[in-house]
Amino acid sequence: MPAIVVVGIQWGDEGKGKVVDFVAEESDVVVRHQGGNNAGHTVWVEGIKHILHLLPTGVIRRKTCAIGSGVVVDPRVLLSEIEECRAKGIELHPGNLKISRNCHAIFPYHIRIDTLLEKRRGSSAIGTTSRGIGPAYRDKIDRVGIRLGDLATPARFEARLREHLGYINDFLTSFYKEPAIPFEEIYEPYREHGKRIEPFLADVPKFLSEASDLGRKILFEGAQGALLDVDAGTFPYVTSSNTGTGGACTGAGFPPQRINGCLGIVKAYTTRVGAGPFPTELEGEAADRIRNAGPAGEFGATTGRPRRCGWFDGPLVKRTVMVNGASCLAVTRLDVLSEFDSIPIAVKYRIGGEVTEIAPEDLTVLSEVEVVYEELPGWKVDISKVKRWEDLPSQAQGYIRRIEDISGARVVLISVGPNRDETILRAPSVFGAFQDGR
Ligand code: IMP
Repeated sequence: MPAIVVVGIQWGDEGKGKVVDFVAEESDVVVRHQGGNNAGHTVWVEGIKHILHLLPTGVIRRKTCAIGSGVVVDPRVLLSEIEECRAKGIELHPGNLKISRNCHAIFPYHIRIDTLLEKRRGSSAIGTTSRGIGPAYRDKIDRVGIRLGDLATPARFEARLREHLGYINDFLTSFYKEPAIPFEEIYEPYREHGKRIEPFLADVPKFLSEASDLGRKILFEGAQGALLDVDAGTFPYVTSSNTGTGGACTGAGFPPQRINGCLGIVKAYTTRVGAGPFPTELEGEAADRIRNAGPAGEFGATTGRPRRCGWFDGPLVKRTVMVNGASCLAVTRLDVLSEFDSIPIAVKYRIGGEVTEIAPEDLTVLSEVEVVYEELPGWKVDISKVKRWEDLPSQAQGYIRRIEDISGARVVLISVGPNRDETILRAPSVFGAFQDGR
């Protein structure tokens, strides 16, 4: 019954797509359990770039995939990703794609409200992806959202939409002085989307339980990052879901006792998009040097926004490793640091007169920390062709070892380029690393 959860340990964009694709090879089932199409998982296969926002990355490896009820699904995006896959020769059918009927749907009014709310927040805007994620989760928690199962049942969909749209239109017209959204504008096209999605609807918890009973290897593909978790992240500058290990249990309907562990994904440095505190952030040319180094650059896969860049933040990683129980780590984009003579790494924070190795929980305190850096020697050679740990320059090994010391987790995988084969595995297999008792 092996099952592991992949969690981004920073603010998202750690390169989870590439790592999930790599680990998917040894998996039988790949599951998305939270977030929506705010995610952008990029995978390079034989020179072809695949960007998936909603479908589990496992589709590229032709694995059976599932979308748990914790995901908010924009039906248009789902259907167009299924079509895009088909055009690339990846056939998705009810046998290899199971979508929970309890997933809440994102409608155009969620997207409109997301944008209006951000405008209203003014200088304290979160910098959302404008995909309607927060408003869709709000409707779910408010118990007024419409689920994919409703969408596929016309009479139920009609009744729920009439009731809810009435409330939404009151809100839009009286609060925002915006035009109302006509019922037919949503009902007709979304009823059609519902029909097309219906064959994929399944009882995902039951499917996963049976797969686990049969000894199938299940990989839970977290989206965003632990610091964007609505509970454990840098609230309010977070997304609206539980991006950490526990999110896999609630978002897929899978019990914690059946999960072997969490593989945390960390970038060799730090980036974030959107607003909020970022203790090791660099400005101007220094940030540009990281942003433009490496083959991919640091620009959002979903919005194309330039990412904020800074050095590796040990205290933050130590905290998220602790919260998520990430006993193993994958370090990504190590190749991006190859051009630096020396590389600063944040090892501690000074808060008032105190020194701490672990980031504080309080956002206000986090915004005011003084970062204590250590300078590690760079390696100044191209490492993108290195395949084995032993062949990495000693300075690069030292950098990885320092990350292990700081985080208390074992680095089992190192990514030195965007392609599948630009990966160094330090264990016989990733699932195996969670079963050897360490
Ligand atoms: P939302 O998820 O669109 O509501 O955005 C909330 C915050 O999470 C914003 O700061 C976004 O930039 C950030 N965010 C959402 N999804 C991702 C992601 O996949 N990678 C990085 N940041 C993200």
